Amino acid sequence: MSDPKPETAAAPAAVPVLKKLHIKTYGCQMNVYDSERMAEAMGAEGYVLTDLAEEADMVLLNTCHIREKAAEKVYHELGRLRPLKDANPDLKIGVAGCVAQAEGQEIRRRMPLVDLVVGSQSYHKLPAMARAVEQGKKPVDTDFPVEDKFEHLPERPVQARPSAFLTVQEGCDKFCAFCVVPYTRGAEVSRPAARILGEARKLVEKGVREITLLGQNVNAYHGEGEDGTWSLARLVRALAKIEGLDRIRYTTSHPNDMEDDLIAAHGDEPKLMPYLHLPVQSGSDRILKAMNRKHTAAEYIRLIERIRAARPDLVLSGDFIVGFPGETDADFEETMELVRKVGYGAAYTFKYSARPGTPAAERKDAVPAEVAEARLRRLQELTISQQRATQDAMVGRECTVLFEKPGRWEGQWIGKSDYLQAVFVKGEGLAPGMLARVRIVGAGPNSLEGELI
Ligand code: 5AD
Ligand code: SF4
Repeated sequence: MSDPKPETAAAPAAVPVLKKLHIKTYGCQMNVYDSERMAEAMGAEGYVLTDLAEEADMVLLNTCHIREKAAEKVYHELGRLRPLKDANPDLKIGVAGCVAQAEGQEIRRRMPLVDLVVGSQSYHKLPAMARAVEQGKKPVDTDFPVEDKFEHLPERPVQARPSAFLTVQEGCDKFCAFCVVPYTRGAEVSRPAARILGEARKLVEKGVREITLLGQNVNAYHGEGEDGTWSLARLVRALAKIEGLDRIRYTTSHPNDMEDDLIAAHGDEPKLMPYLHLPVQSGSDRILKAMNRKHTAAEYIRLIERIRAARPDLVLSGDFIVGFPGETDADFEETMELVRKVGYGAAYTFKYSARPGTPAAERKDAVPAEVAEARLRRLQELTISQQRATQDAMVGRECTVLFEKPGRWEGQWIGKSDYLQAVFVKGEGLAPGMLARVRIVGAGPNSLEGELI
């Protein structure tokens, strides 16, 4: 007998229902990496990414808690999502990252429209939590689980960009008096070297040519290797042996963890790029002590001299806080003096923000807001002029550029110099992942213009 319903026999057995996920990422590169991994985990559940919150089935905010402004942005954004949820009650809203970790249930109390809350250490459980939400539950998970989340995440797919982030270390044991990271991200934990090398090899097989190693304290890396504990320098040297991987970077570092072997690697490992983000926060020893930084301004400057002796063309960037409680005009002038002495290619400058639960938040000697504001403006004038000088000094020089994507103009491509500067080049036959020698012919505040050699 013939099949009575041939047309159904030809239909696919189970077509997965595709749902749309919109992720908005706040804060540091570690959150950018985490957002990518969350998107991949949700991809395995049938979620595809969308740039538009309006068409999403789920909106996930991957949040930052470092300063009050960053944390408040999350509540502001949740308020903006309310009309979307009113229009589409099936829309699911999740909060991930450091605000989730720090505030947990409190988020749902303040914003009942939130369906799930997942901390930075638990996001491998996101797919299961999304399923629980489908069943009407409102899960909150801010545990620091014993299992390694990276081992429970799907393998990384083909990368769209030739440059990738790779988290090697998380957490911080430094307890700077102003900072929430030791509380939100927990104690320092390093991933085993073999797992990092495995992830790096797969990224390279999929077209990645530059890897930026990430960690809240990346140079405190002390992961297990086949023969004991590895330092970051050892890891960098092992990564440098991977054929097809051309560039290695790492961020963000603490001065006290700049060990001799890492400084040496800056001198003799050509794949380690000559750009280093090394925050100092203040140039005043009194304030550094109050911040619990455990180093002096002179020690920091001596360290910079040693790294520059190993790699003379090194470009430095740093983080600075002005208006830390008790900071006097004289303290601030010492910060200005340190910046003049060091000379930064880029700088991230912040007004101190009191964070609940940190020792500095207990202090009663706050700097008036307008004083902090005025100091911030002066410091920014100086750091912007140094950044401009670093850009201008590139004109006439030759450098290597890793091309990432086409620019806005016909034939134009955008890439990065060794020093992490954006370079615009017009040229035939350029493609993402190509490395080429370029002569710099023009400089703007945030980008360079180059010609193929
Ligand atoms: N207030 C202002 N800036 C802060 N940072 C960290 N905590 C605070 C705070 N409470 C800055 C530091 C750090 C960078 C990531 O953010 O400069 O290096
Ligand atoms: Fe925060 Fe200091 Fe740790 Fe950096 S080193 S994450 S500023 S506590």
